[in-house]
Amino acid sequence: MPQLARRMGRAKPSAIMLVAEKAKQLKAEGRDIISFSIGVPNFLPGAHVYEAARAALDKDSGQYGSNRGADAMLDAFLKHVEGIGLTGYARANCASGIGAKHVIYNLCEALLDEGDGFAFATPYWTSYIDIGEILDADIQLLPCPPEQDYKLTPEQLDAALAKKPKVFLFNNPSNPTGMVYTKDEIAALADVVAKHPDTWIITDDIYNRMVFDGVGYHNFLHARPELRDRVIFVDSLSKTYGMPGWRVGFMAGPEAVAKAVTTLNSNHITNIPEVTTAAAVAALTGPQDVPEQKNAEFQAKRDQVMAVLAQIPGVVCPKPQGAFYVFPDISVAFGKTHGPTGAKIANDVDLCNALLDAKGVACVPGSAFGEPRALRISYTCPTAQLAPGMERIREFFSELG
Ligand SMILES: Cc1ncc(COP(=O)(O)O)c(C=O)c1O
Repeated sequence: MPQLARRMGRAKPSAIMLVAEKAKQLKAEGRDIISFSIGVPNFLPGAHVYEAARAALDKDSGQYGSNRGADAMLDAFLKHVEGIGLTGYARANCASGIGAKHVIYNLCEALLDEGDGFAFATPYWTSYIDIGEILDADIQLLPCPPEQDYKLTPEQLDAALAKKPKVFLFNNPSNPTGMVYTKDEIAALADVVAKHPDTWIITDDIYNRMVFDGVGYHNFLHARPELRDRVIFVDSLSKTYGMPGWRVGFMAGPEAVAKAVTTLNSNHITNIPEVTTAAAVAALTGPQDVPEQKNAEFQAKRDQVMAVLAQIPGVVCPKPQGAFYVFPDISVAFGKTHGPTGAKIANDVDLCNALLDAKGVACVPGSAFGEPRALRISYTCPTAQLAPGMERIREFFSELG
């Protein structure tokens, strides 16, 4: 049989999906499972989004569309970009894709040649490393352990950029940690970025509307507008509007980069379908009460999760201020045994497996994100499940010895 391409030896299915699949299987077998595993927002968009999609179906042209994205959709995105203080962009600075994941993949393909330096912080969103490996980039990980609140320091960034990576990918608010950089922290990092002109900066800021405690959302471009010739802002409808399955993501940045992504679209997908485009326009331009209400709800759930974690001796958790994830350091459990089942916990994967088997709670091992001392709790489950799920986690830890 002929061989697959060499790059497929480096491509891996998403580790997050593997946990979600196991939880789904146990549920199908009749187990009472509470899933904190997958990062889906668990709410649906407003009625106006469905109405727009139905209306688009009724007058469907059946034709191919724009490789960059329909003008109406780009204009709606531009209005949002302007609303968060990133001004001066036109359609030529933008491109869309089948979700931010696809946009990020396209950006990496457009900017990285084989062997080019590709720097990003750990913990990282799992796809960063997989995309880097598929493209055979030289991945440069910048460790940000819980002791530094999972955040990159200016000194670390300075040392990393001194090696002239072709791309530095920055994620704020973060998946998996939920950490959000303050205005001052962003300004300090932007000063460092300004010193190193050889690196493209991708800011994956798809959770920019999910920020708590009044911290606000800040981008390098707010602090240093002159960086706009090499900063690329990435956004998505998935989490903000409860539309992960609709698959719409965007970028705004230098014209040449937007054009490159558009060219890749012309060879990969041609266009985002008309019905999806209409739904995207409606989400971006319609009432914004759903995202606002969900943000308040997520903040309250974050507090609930943190309150239970604080009751577990030895578990340490920097306080997340955005997205819908909590990423506790659970390494206190390593080397222990779960009394009732006899499960030995040598690492994060053992812990997640034992927790799922013993208590029916699914979390994602931190090693999926490059931090094996932690696990990720995604707290978008129905509110009624949150307290019992967290209580099961607390109980599980109390049974370790
Ligand atoms: C940090 C981050 N970037 C990008 C994505 C991809 O989002 P999309 O659904 O738009 O592809 C995700 C999804 O979980 C994410 O957490």
